[in-house]
Amino acid sequence: MDYKMTLTPEQLDILNGSEGEAMAKVMKTLVLYGEAFGAEKMVPVTSAKGHLVTSFGLKVMKPVYNLMDQLIEGGALSRQQFTVDPKPLDDNVPAGILEKLVFKKFMYTMQDSYDSQLKKLGLIDESSYTCTCYMDEVGNAPKKGEYLSWAESSAVVYANSVLGARCNRNSGIIELFGSIVGYVPYFGLLTDDGRKADWIIEVKTEKKPEAQVLGSAIGMKVMEDVPYVKGLDKWIGNELNDDAKAYLKDFGAATASNGAVGLYHIDGLTPEAKESGESLIRENAKVYVIDDAELQRVQDNYPIMWKDIEAAPKLCFVGCPHLSMAQLIEWTENISSSLKKNGLKKVTVPTVLTAAPAVCEEFGKTEYAKTLKESGVILSYICPLMYMNNPLCKKKAVITNSNKLRTYTTSRYYRSEEILDIITKEAK
Ligand code: F3S
Repeated sequence: MDYKMTLTPEQLDILNGSEGEAMAKVMKTLVLYGEAFGAEKMVPVTSAKGHLVTSFGLKVMKPVYNLMDQLIEGGALSRQQFTVDPKPLDDNVPAGILEKLVFKKFMYTMQDSYDSQLKKLGLIDESSYTCTCYMDEVGNAPKKGEYLSWAESSAVVYANSVLGARCNRNSGIIELFGSIVGYVPYFGLLTDDGRKADWIIEVKTEKKPEAQVLGSAIGMKVMEDVPYVKGLDKWIGNELNDDAKAYLKDFGAATASNGAVGLYHIDGLTPEAKESGESLIRENAKVYVIDDAELQRVQDNYPIMWKDIEAAPKLCFVGCPHLSMAQLIEWTENISSSLKKNGLKKVTVPTVLTAAPAVCEEFGKTEYAKTLKESGVILSYICPLMYMNNPLCKKKAVITNSNKLRTYTTSRYYRSEEILDIITKEAK
């Protein structure tokens, strides 16, 4: 077969079966995928670790399990160890008898066997299930300029923008193939030109914009383009400290899910913007001005998918993407002091905070763990989206401060301060 791409002798050897038939098919898939996007070459994956998007053992995904078996039998294992997105189930998270039955008997029946396939392919360990694999406690943070083969949209946009690594918004399985063969096609966000900004965003708010609403507004406006954001450093500073990183994690996840952003630059803050400044902006870039009224307009337009919009919330999720340690501590302190102020001991809406297993473990060693438990809040490692991904949840009045969760489920969005108020005041 003739390929349009220029391939190295080693890549051609792999295509011709030097490492077995399974590896040849993996390489061929990536080459054809790259050619579809106009890639002219394949480049080595240079990050130390990979990250996979698919962690759930849904019964309907049989072709994926068959493919995994073929890869394992053919010796096409991942060249790099990897982390993977969060699991869908945790017995600590409230669920009705019917829901538990649906989860375990109908939906996630393949969870155990899929977990064991992941281990054989290269999963690091049991605590590697999180979308925020780049947290210090987890230890999968790529370095600036490294080429990655990831697909989780919130992690890809973080790695590109905050860490300065280079990764396209791949689909699930394609990212696994890149980790297996050790090459990815060179196009899009891997190239200097693909990292140039098509939009200038001017943030002109009177108060610090809510990360998830600002990200949502930008995502819906620019879609898959690269935005260069001016005026935000005024609110989150010029240093990538824990607060700024947590803000950008939530902001980025919203740009990636409400639009399809894979990279953003924050003037005076993110690595490439600090290095190259406005030379990153393309000539004739479009301009989008965001003030407080625009953010309110965006939030007011979120559809409410509940059957009864007056329903009392039955469940609250905070932590999509997974919370950082600093965010967990902040939520614990805020919940505790708001309950005290209202003369209450426990939250009035069942509330689940989600974080990476390694972050949960570290948090468990702090004094805050006891305070959080006493306030009745559940700490879990699940993916709330996977939890809600069933027909029974459609009828449930779930609230969240996550714009990603709002977009993909029937959950209702509130800003963090609104969530805090709802879960810590006397139920109606
Ligand atoms: Fe993470 Fe699941 Fe949200 S993967 S970003 S918690 S949808």
